[in-house]
Amino acid sequence: MTTEGRVDSGLEGVVVAESALSRVDGEAGRLIIAGYDVAELAEHASFEQVCALLWEGLPPSAATHESYRVRLAEARVRAFEALPRLAPALAMPDPMDALRASLALISVDEDSVLVQATAVTAATAVFAAARARGGHGLPALAPDPTLDHARDYLRMVRGVDGAPAASALGRYLVTLCDHDMNASTFAARVVTSTGSDMVSAIVAAVGALKGPLHGGAPGPVLDMLDAVAEHGDARGWLEAELAAGRRIMGMGHRVYRVRDPRAAVLEGAIQLLATEPGMRPRLEVGRHVEQAARALLRERSVGRRLEANVEFYTAVLLDAVGLDRRDFTPTFATARVAGWCAHVLEHRRTGRLVRPALRYVGRLPDVAA
Ligand code: COA
Repeated sequence: MTTEGRVDSGLEGVVVAESALSRVDGEAGRLIIAGYDVAELAEHASFEQVCALLWEGLPPSAATHESYRVRLAEARVRAFEALPRLAPALAMPDPMDALRASLALISVDEDSVLVQATAVTAATAVFAAARARGGHGLPALAPDPTLDHARDYLRMVRGVDGAPAASALGRYLVTLCDHDMNASTFAARVVTSTGSDMVSAIVAAVGALKGPLHGGAPGPVLDMLDAVAEHGDARGWLEAELAAGRRIMGMGHRVYRVRDPRAAVLEGAIQLLATEPGMRPRLEVGRHVEQAARALLRERSVGRRLEANVEFYTAVLLDAVGLDRRDFTPTFATARVAGWCAHVLEHRRTGRLVRPALRYVGRLPDVAA
């Protein structure tokens, strides 16, 4: 094989798999998840129904919601029973390190791949919630198996599960459930391609999600909104960031050349929270900063449109439902694990070993005279 020619270091536009799970149209700003537009799915489907859709191709219905609600609830209870032996991992200072380390300590080598997917999805929510409580010096709350996944996650984190907040969080979990070949999903598929197990694939995906260019952005977005609110001049603050060589968090995307369609879905979900304290000013600051950032980046990046991505309004929404900014990325993992598991299952059925090439530019051995 020759390694001459173009090096695709970011793999832009390189198609590495066929998938029935999701499709991103970056020019039109459209996201389709297993045949449904993301806005439609977020408004009408539960997280349980999305798991059934992604893992088994079952269309959303009351029956799939109930059967997956029971399965996920039972799996949350089992995951909670594992917490005592995971205590050192969950005590790690960074919540994503804690999630990665705690997931690495479980084993879900059951016969059924659906049982494995359910176990790891439930464990992600339970461990993320336990770490969120631990971060405030509070003991983990046991799952309530009568609740649906989104509501119980919120309750396990906050101790309460108000109806509008639970609905908004449910829409968030559905909106974020899958997004074609993003970096963490690719990591999960690469690990799966070697014949490795489900937990190893999900742990790799959690590691990839942690980075600020992927799932680590929403906490810094909230920091930015706070800083701009304090500074008073959005444009001036953003200009100083760019002058310091920093990127504007929550702006830009590898695939979208227009505004990320999930930003609009999350903005809509935020409307459910109109009565939450502090919500309205935060949303107003968010919209103002988005407009200022967009105008500034348009002036600077001629030829490349940089618009709001999903993380921008993730920050506003998760803050409004009462989550601490340190727990935003573990909450992203709580949603995306549904997609990661679906890609693991799909790659097992259809994929091959992922093994790209590199071009060696190092020293060659001296040729003997
Ligand atoms: N703020 C300022 N400039 C940005 C930018 C941002 N948020 N996003 C991209 N750019 C600029 C880069 O500096 C680069 O400019 P240059 O060509 O003058 O060097 C150009 O746009 C292309 O950037 P590149 O890193 O090659 O694009 P990418 O496709 O790899 O980047 C992201 C995609 C998401 C990593 C990038 O937009 C980013 O870092 N965004 C901020 C982090 C974020 O919100 N992540 C969540 C993603 S969902």
